[in-house]
Amino acid sequence: MHSSVGFVPTKVDHLQRAELCAGCHTLLTHALDDKGNPAGSLPEQVPYQEWLHSDYAKTNTCQSCHMPLVEGDAPITSTLGKTHSDVRRHVFVGGNAFILRMLKNHRDELGVIAPPEELKHRPCVPNSSLAARPRPSR
Ligand code: HEC
Ligand code: HEC
Repeated sequence: MHSSVGFVPTKVDHLQRAELCAGCHTLLTHALDDKGNPAGSLPEQVPYQEWLHSDYAKTNTCQSCHMPLVEGDAPITSTLGKTHSDVRRHVFVGGNAFILRMLKNHRDELGVIAPPEELKHRPCVPNSSLAARPRPSR
């Protein structure tokens, strides 16, 4: 990485904390009435608050479920990548099948480059850390 971009990356611990995800995944939606006036707000997406109030806050971070650990050492870049231990995959498996279907069915219009087979929704892959753990109660 240093040879390509000219700076030396530093390890930061907050990448492993649930608070990293909370910033984007806390979504309060403001609803409007039929005249366009504010009618209230609703918590559309609050996994961080749900996690904070669940037993999983003591045992699992968001990352430990949503970013499966790669077994053994693995390179983190495709060219000239050195191998590292404790690499986590950026798969972010979730429950959203709608967006996948939309990307698959309108791939030309949306300029989607992922192959259609990557956009199929399917049950969690066995042995991934997400599949291996119980579902959170929410
Ligand atoms: C114990 C494992 C586990 C932990 C810890 C966990 N999740 Fe999840 N999460 C899941 C599973 C399983 C699903 C999919 C099933 C579902 O939707 O109920 C999911 C679904 C989601 C979704 C998809 C939206 C949805 O409602 O379907 C988002 C976004 C998400 N999690 C973010 C987070 C964030 C952020 C954290 C940490 C604050 C977190 N998760 C902690 C297992 C976990
Ligand atoms: C910079 C903002 C940002 C951060 C930080 C972020 N996410 Fe996301 N995440 C998104 C967006 C945008 C999507 C796509 C939304 C969609 O599919 O509707 C997404 C999608 C997801 C999904 C799939 C949701 C689904 O319904 O299938 C999961 C699971 C998820 N993120 C988990 C996490 C976890 C865990 C972290 C922390 C390690 C995290 N995200 C950090 C913005 C973010």
